[in-house]
Amino acid sequence: MKQDTWSRVDDFFIDHFSLEDEILSMVLKNCEEKGLPPHNVSACQGMFLQILATACKAQRILEIGTLGGYSTIFLARAIGDHGQILTIESVPKHAEVATLNFKIAKLSERIKLLHGDARTKMEELVTNNTEAFDLVFIDADKPSNPIYLDLAIQLSKSGTIIIGDNVVRNGAVADESSHGPKVFGVRQFCEDLSNNHSLLSTGIQTVGAKGYDGFTVSIVK
Ligand code: DHB
Ligand code: MG
Repeated sequence: MKQDTWSRVDDFFIDHFSLEDEILSMVLKNCEEKGLPPHNVSACQGMFLQILATACKAQRILEIGTLGGYSTIFLARAIGDHGQILTIESVPKHAEVATLNFKIAKLSERIKLLHGDARTKMEELVTNNTEAFDLVFIDADKPSNPIYLDLAIQLSKSGTIIIGDNVVRNGAVADESSHGPKVFGVRQFCEDLSNNHSLLSTGIQTVGAKGYDGFTVSIVK
């Protein structure tokens, strides 16, 4: 039972729960046509993010790594007209595609795209005493995950949910023979989460259209 089955079951859920509307399909088509890497969350995962953001009544969301804005759109749908998402993207082409996608989704007013290096942008948010976020989604370059976590915590308050995408990496996170900067990044990220006693954290493994991966979910106590 492998990728074929996982993809078929994702299709089953997408169909049953109507997870992909015309806007989301158009957004994905734009991402593909513009040659963006296929690192967007799946529709099932996107709706999970939307449900989580709805459950914690998020009004302020920070996303690290916009890519084409697919996950941003799910999150933006959770916050209503008065909420705001800051999403940070360093690659100009990704930022350009995402900006177009937010217009297509008619969500530009809720989403502020910060174009630039995520660490620098987050440090600026800290320096400017930006109001704490209700939810932070860390989904950018994996080697920098520990840095993003440290800054995300500084931009959090009691009750903030912090999610880290792609921490399982086909099992590599727990395979000592697996090396490389992305694996080291997510391993250190998990280590830092576990050492931080102001957080409650867990890891959830996932299979689906995006293969075998997973995410961490933490809450600031
Ligand atoms: C990678 C990054 C992602 O955000 C993702 O969802 C899948 C893979 C990567 O850098 O390999
Ligand atoms: Mg990801």
